[in-house]
Amino acid sequence: MKDKIILAIETSCDETAVAVMQGNKLLSNALHSQIDLHKKYGGVVPGIAKLAHIEKFDDVFNQAVDEAGIKLEDIDYVAVTRGLGLAIALEVGINKAKELATKLNVPLLGMSHMAGHLFSALMKENVFEFEHIQYPNLGLLVSGGHTAIVLIKDLFTIEKIGESVDDAAGEAYDKFAMMLGLEYPGGPMVSKLAAEYAPKLEIKLSRIHRHVYVNGYQDGQIKYSLPIPMASSGDLNMSYSGLKTAVKQLINELSGASAKLNIKETGRAEKLTQDQIGELCVMFEAAALNALILKLEQAIKHFSPHELWLGGGVSASPRLQTMLTELAAKHNLISKIADDRKLLTDNAGMIAAAAFVALKQQDEQGDISCNIAELYEVGNFGKLDRVTNLSL
Ligand code: KG4
Ligand code: ZN
Repeated sequence: MKDKIILAIETSCDETAVAVMQGNKLLSNALHSQIDLHKKYGGVVPGIAKLAHIEKFDDVFNQAVDEAGIKLEDIDYVAVTRGLGLAIALEVGINKAKELATKLNVPLLGMSHMAGHLFSALMKENVFEFEHIQYPNLGLLVSGGHTAIVLIKDLFTIEKIGESVDDAAGEAYDKFAMMLGLEYPGGPMVSKLAAEYAPKLEIKLSRIHRHVYVNGYQDGQIKYSLPIPMASSGDLNMSYSGLKTAVKQLINELSGASAKLNIKETGRAEKLTQDQIGELCVMFEAAALNALILKLEQAIKHFSPHELWLGGGVSASPRLQTMLTELAAKHNLISKIADDRKLLTDNAGMIAAAAFVALKQQDEQGDISCNIAELYEVGNFGKLDRVTNLSL
């Protein structure tokens, strides 16, 4: 019997994406990024995203089908991101998926975007490697919209055990970048500058009572200091708004500004030297990432996992990848991160992987009782996606 073919669609934000997976092999992962359209607004404009998804969908779809070398009749399942994301952007993909599933008379699977980011970690050389894994494991999910630590009890049982109580990690990167006058999305540029300027600062953490700080040393002296909010909160939650305020104050001090920096106001960065901007990126990234790593380490001590899985756009930061790998090595754990950069930021290959898991659960357990997208919204990461027939 031939391995089943899943065609997956993802339009939750600013990437129009279609992928084809056969069995556990990803045959194609096509993508059109709308970043250039949103850049001048400093963020994703939902109406523009929707129109661009509609305009580009067919091209991306045809590319995914051609590259996979399949015929439409070969498709056994259509999977689509049903949440989380921008409603009017999601709707484009969901409508296309419904049309296709109806036309081909195949089941439609409604998938969670965050489940996609989680399972992307198991992709290696375009193969979804789900066998011979020991559980439990921990997942760190860091996207532009959500930041969470999840406990993976088995492939089908995932619970959210910590999350950001305010901004997501990627959102914090983007807002910080905006303060510096860097282009949207700021994350990639901040992590690039941080890597370039890392040799100029020695980063050390210090703890004063219950507060943890990231200190940047130059010539043996502390040059900058930023707090890691909630580091000792006694739970696995994180916060980014305090870091945002602290870094804003630092920019104000460095630029000698008396008035408070408005987050939308990028002009202030003109008063900073290139070295200061670079060093601030090192500091911000160190604080933002240590906030995650400190909590992940607490979770490791509590849950004794075998593996750490990393997913979501911020995992494209080389620094985060290194920190996760080092943390895993320190505790003798296996770390898993998709080996293809394209699978880290939004794409449809990860949605195909999540759909593969949902189908496997259906095969093994007969019933897929809850939906990860809905559960995530009500604060429980829960089990896996139900195989739903949205076309009915
Ligand atoms: O997962 P993703 O592609 O989309 C959402 O689901 O939101 O994540 C996008 C986020 C953006 O905030 C972007 O700035 C951040 O990921 N990002 C990065 C890097 N590449 C993308 N953050 C840090 N370093 C990067 N290299
Ligand atoms: Zn995402």
